[in-house]
Order: sequence, then C-alpha cells, then structure tokens
Amino acid sequence: MAEDISPLIRKLSESHSLSIEEYERLIAGRNEESARLLRDLAVKERRRIYGNHVYVRGLIEVSNICRNDCLYCGIRRSNPHCERYRLNPDEITACADEGYSLGFRTFVLQGGEDSYFTDEVLGGIVRSIKASHPDCAVTLSMGERSRSSYEHLRACGADRYLLRHETADPEHYARLHPPAMSWDNRMNCLRELRELGYQVGCGFMVGSPYQTTRILAEDLKFIETFRPEMCGIGPFIPHKDTPFRDEPAGTLELTCYLLSVIRLVHPPVLLPATTALGTIDPLGREKGIMSGANVVMPNLSPVNVRRKYELYDNKICTGEESAQCRECLSNRMRSIGYEVVVDRGDFKRAL
Ligand code: 5AD
Ligand code: FES
Repeated sequence: MAEDISPLIRKLSESHSLSIEEYERLIAGRNEESARLLRDLAVKERRRIYGNHVYVRGLIEVSNICRNDCLYCGIRRSNPHCERYRLNPDEITACADEGYSLGFRTFVLQGGEDSYFTDEVLGGIVRSIKASHPDCAVTLSMGERSRSSYEHLRACGADRYLLRHETADPEHYARLHPPAMSWDNRMNCLRELRELGYQVGCGFMVGSPYQTTRILAEDLKFIETFRPEMCGIGPFIPHKDTPFRDEPAGTLELTCYLLSVIRLVHPPVLLPATTALGTIDPLGREKGIMSGANVVMPNLSPVNVRRKYELYDNKICTGEESAQCRECLSNRMRSIGYEVVVDRGDFKRAL
C-alpha cells in the first residue's frame, strides 16, 4: 500500500516547512486525491493573499546571443542553427512603451549572456525605461554577472532579478551545464542580488534530465530557506539542436503539483504559470493558475524576433502581436474566474 500523504500535506500547510525526506515522500507518494487536497489548500492560500488577481509581466526577449552552453537550452553557444539577433536600446524601450499603453507595469528584460549588454548599455536602458515610466518595475533576467555589475544596475533603477538556480544539487547542476559553469557561482549570484536589495527570483525546470525526486526535494528545501520573492518553474522541453534532444519532456501533472507545493512552502511568493507550461498543454497556464500560480508573462518582443528566442521546441506565442498576447491571456484568466490587473504586482511581505 502506498503511503497516505495527507498528514504531510496538512503539516506543510500549517508549518510551511518539511524535512527533505518528507518533501521526497510528498512527491513520491502523490496521487489524484492528494493532489486535489494540496491544490485546494494552495489556491485558498493564494486567494487569502492575492485574491483573484493575476499579475502580468511584459517579457522582452532582448537577445539570443549567449556565451554559455547549457546542455538543455536552444540558444546555447554551440547551436549553429540558432539564428542570432539582438534588440538595440531604442527597440527595447519602444517595446516597453507599447507595453505601458497595453497596461503593463512590470517589464522583464530577458536575454542570453550577450557581452554587448555591458553595464553601460544595460544600465542606460534601465534608466531610460524608469525615466519614462517611473510607476513601473523593471526586472532583469540576464544571467550571471559580477557583483559590481548587479550593483550598478540596481543603482540605475532595476528592481528585480530573475536567475533560476536550475537545481539545488551541485552534481545535478554539473550534468546540465558545461564545466565552465559552476553551481557555487550561481548560488553566489543569488545571494549577492538579495544583498543588493533586489527582489529575487530563483527556479528550476521540472523533469530535466537526471532529475530525481530527491533533487526536487532539495529544490523545495532551498525555496523554503532562501524565501525568494519570485520562483519560476516550468517543464523541461527538449530542443532539437541540443544534446538533450531525445530526452522526455517534464509533465503538466508534476509541474502543477509542485506549483501547489511551492505556494504552501512560501505563501506570498510570486509564482508564474510559464510559457513552457502553456507549450506542453494548450490549457497549461490556466491549470497552473488553478494549482496556485499567480503570474503570467505575455510576450512583448517584436514579432519578427519571437521565433528566434527558442529555448525549447514548439514554443507558443511566437506569431502574435503584443496586444493579441495580452488580450489572449486576459481572456484565458477571465475564463477561469481570475482577473489580470494593471499593477506592478509587488511581493506582499505580510503573511
Ligand atoms: N525547456 C524548458 N525550460 C528551459 N529553459 C532553458 N531551456 C529550457 C528547455 N529546453 C529555462 C531555464 C532558464 C530559463 C530562462 O528557461 O530554466 O533559466
Ligand atoms: Fe500569447 Fe495567447 S498568450 S497568444
């Protein structure tokens, strides 16, 4: 007989903490009934803090040029089939201006680790977006940089930084990344970002190659102790031009289950229903919200580059204009009883 994990679920919902072994059992012992209990508690918790509001972040994919060679990623340096592009500062600020008029109050500048975006250049872009739209939050998702770089960008007005930790297990990290990249450096970046006063987002892929239940349990423990303001999780999806091309994708079921767990581990966390989730299932983002997520990130990149920012195969939203994407997501959220709001969507510290 499989273990009844409902006492573990109740314990998590009351104390927001389990041991690594307990997180492991929570994942390994799940079934439809326990998933429903977990989801109901997660949704209740999210509703208590954020009501039925869903926050939107306008995602601007600034460059697919990357010095890194992560084994899972379609824009890795050694993919010769990736058609490279970068947006210039005027194009990026124009995306933000368009986004502002569509009701976005948070912009996420995401890109590969492209040496064009020096502190000067990137800092200038942040300053100019903040000057035009002082009521907006600027989030950067530009990879690993030096402490002084993070410090400079913060001084230029960047409010938040997304840097997925990818995996809490150093050995697993080494199997997903080339030797030149290190888990210690990644974790150090996250700590520095926090010290510099950023709202910080970590996260990981669900179902990445070599991932085990034990490793997922370590990820949950990391989230419990680090207490990030944001946490991005989505299914791993193979990309045809990477070494992981034949690996299976992560599942909708486990991703949604983990979204519910993370909501209970750290109730106020800003938790997106990601594009990857919408890619493996046509209603993936809706299901993510109904599992405890509270953020969606429509694409604001110029339509002519969308297809090129291909981290994984069959990514959705590559043909739609920004306004269409925004409309589409508002309708999708309304269809499940949630409301997309015009708001910076800040982390609510108070429990
Ligand atoms: N499948 C799913 N997510 C991916 N990412 C990169 N490649 C893939 C993939 N093949 C995620 C990583 C990265 C974020 C920007 O996108 O977690 O941090
Ligand atoms: Fe982009 Fe639906 S959210 S088209």
